[in-house]
Amino acid sequence: MAVLTPCLALVLCVVVSFLVLRSRRQSKVVDPRGKTQADFKPWVDQDLQDDSQVPTGEDEEGKWADSNVEDDVPHVPYSPQRHPEDKMLQRSHHFYALMNQRRSVRFISPEPVPREVINNVVRTAGTAPSGAHTEPWTFVVVSDVDTKHRIRLIVEEEEEMNYRQRMGDKWVKDLAKLRTNWIKEYLDVAPYLILIFKQTYGVLPVKKTHYYNEISVSIACGILLAALQNVGLVTVTSTPLNCGPQLRLLLKRPPNEKLLMLLPVGYAAKDATVPDLTRKPLEDIMVHI
Ligand SMILES: Cc1cc2nc3c(=O)[nH]c(=O)nc-3n(C[C@H](O)[C@H](O)[C@H](O)COP(=O)(O)O)c2cc1C
Repeated sequence: MAVLTPCLALVLCVVVSFLVLRSRRQSKVVDPRGKTQADFKPWVDQDLQDDSQVPTGEDEEGKWADSNVEDDVPHVPYSPQRHPEDKMLQRSHHFYALMNQRRSVRFISPEPVPREVINNVVRTAGTAPSGAHTEPWTFVVVSDVDTKHRIRLIVEEEEEMNYRQRMGDKWVKDLAKLRTNWIKEYLDVAPYLILIFKQTYGVLPVKKTHYYNEISVSIACGILLAALQNVGLVTVTSTPLNCGPQLRLLLKRPPNEKLLMLLPVGYAAKDATVPDLTRKPLEDIMVHI
């Protein structure tokens, strides 16, 4: 027994040391700000954090609606157009071919675009579904030359800091193939800039909850991209990091609105180029069960 005890202690010591070493190896690397590498997500714009609230009656900024249901809505018959199968196949192929030609274009022509076309593509975006039919979007269409230039100054100043300091080496390297940087000439050149704001809550006539507002607005943006492609206009989906608050003030939008996307819109410049990217084939993006 006297011989066994030191042996047991030795075995225990080895096992404990092994467990401590293994747990250290498995723990994540922690940077001096107390954040793990997995926490470092510079693309998560702080301004976009969801501040939609669950209605709790009155607060210092105004009264919340008890419910978003203002009136009872009548239900009406709905018979969408149906197509024969061969026609469906043809239409699905044509629409895919059209959308497959869509590219993010960073060289936009200054040629004017009819205003009514812009109105219609925004109308189309506004047909998107939205959580509890709250339609939590505002599309700010800018064609004023001075305002476009002010937008450019704000975006370029922030983007330079993003590229030089905030994004980190990995993100900058991942973007290298796209040859993007903080110079955004298209913000002056494009005949229209469409800035899409998500309304984190409604304000009229009383405050109301905008459920899933970011998902709803993102769907509207997707439909907007398709509508632009449909009329032969181009854009580049841009999410100018950390520019939201300044652009919101410049465009005099209320505090419940957060900038989600900025789309310069126009015809492609004659000498426009795009990176030669390929898209994943169906079998890599679809699982059929
Ligand atoms: C959410 C999102 C954010 C994007 N942000 C930017 C951006 O800030 N600047 C930019 O030049 N392109 C941006 N893009 C465009 C992508 O780089 C582009 O969609 C991608 O390279 C694929 O190219 P394609 O759009 O031509 O298919 C963004 C795209 C998405 C979907």
